[in-house]
Amino acid sequence: MSKKILITGGAGYIGSMLATSLIKLGYTVTVVDLLKYNSNSLSHLYFFEKFKLIKEDVRNMDIMKILIKKHDIIIPLAALVGAPLCTKYKSLAKTTNFKAIDDIMKIISKKKKVIYLTSNSGYGVGKKNKFCDETSELNPISLYGKTKCDAEDSVIQHKNSICFRLATVFGCSYRMRSDLIVNNFVHRSLNLKKIEIFEPHFRRNFIHIRDVVNGIIFSIENFDKLKSNIYNLGLSTANITKLQLVKKIKQHNKNFKIKVIKNRKDPDQRDYFVSNKKIEKKGFRASISLDDGIKELLIYFKHNKEKILNNY
Ligand SMILES: NC(=O)c1ccc[n+]([C@@H]2O[C@H](COP(=O)([O-])OP(=O)(O)OC[C@H]3O[C@@H](n4cnc5c(N)ncnc54)[C@H](O)[C@@H]3O)[C@@H](O)[C@H]2O)c1
Repeated sequence: MSKKILITGGAGYIGSMLATSLIKLGYTVTVVDLLKYNSNSLSHLYFFEKFKLIKEDVRNMDIMKILIKKHDIIIPLAALVGAPLCTKYKSLAKTTNFKAIDDIMKIISKKKKVIYLTSNSGYGVGKKNKFCDETSELNPISLYGKTKCDAEDSVIQHKNSICFRLATVFGCSYRMRSDLIVNNFVHRSLNLKKIEIFEPHFRRNFIHIRDVVNGIIFSIENFDKLKSNIYNLGLSTANITKLQLVKKIKQHNKNFKIKVIKNRKDPDQRDYFVSNKKIEKKGFRASISLDDGIKELLIYFKHNKEKILNNY
């Protein structure tokens, strides 16, 4: 079993949950992160001898070179995440999301394993009545999507790599994000008592954050079976429209108004359903339901009434 794991961006929304699960399973985990958003998201791990946090920029290849040599598996999560943030800081987005990954792939030795996460937003606008699978044409519509697709191209050249194209993630984390659509709508339903939606028919696929973590752990434990491949990773029962999502939230919290705004474009033009059959055939199936995630988020936001936690 490969035991030493390096996670860049490991203090973030996904990384902090992943690092926690890996430590509990007995892996040695090093996190490299600039701690841009939450400097306490990993403080519950400081007690563990097998855990180390390094506050450093992933674009510093001198440091990265040394760290990569000491680890068996590299999970590069550090990024400027989401279209609005990348549009605001274009140059930083390109150097962090693409160049730093490409530089890592240039120096990494053949035997090191890499697990890379990108977004299924690369599918951009899908065809009507069709599910996007891993062979579907990529059509990223934001700088965020483009940098992630380019980085995936670079990673997949390395034979010892696995790439996941994630559905939109929901659920609670040690570093919370309420800009993600499910988290955001639940927050609004509770604290603003109103959800306004544009283009309610737009389709999306979702996945709970603990299923993302479980999928990555499955890939570590079944690396040889999965390697040299790209997989969509989402909850197959959660291919739904934005309006269906809001109505689902209403089943758990009746006390808010839904306002559909007509004739206005959503700044996020993603519209697609996604097939997750490829990873399911390999033996992993996401299973935490949207209903369970919504219930958990309602409790979280009831106790955390702070303003929406955006990255930008
Ligand atoms: N959350 C999602 O819905 C989703 C979906 C698909 C893919 N992903 C991918 O998963 C990864 C993690 O996303 P997340 O939701 O946890 O985001 P996040 O913003 O919570 O985490 C990103 C982390 O990277 C760190 N970071 C940023 N620039 C850095 C730099 N130059 N050096 C070191 N650290 C740096 C930040 O401090 C932060 O802790 C990203 O690569 C993202 O593209 C996320």
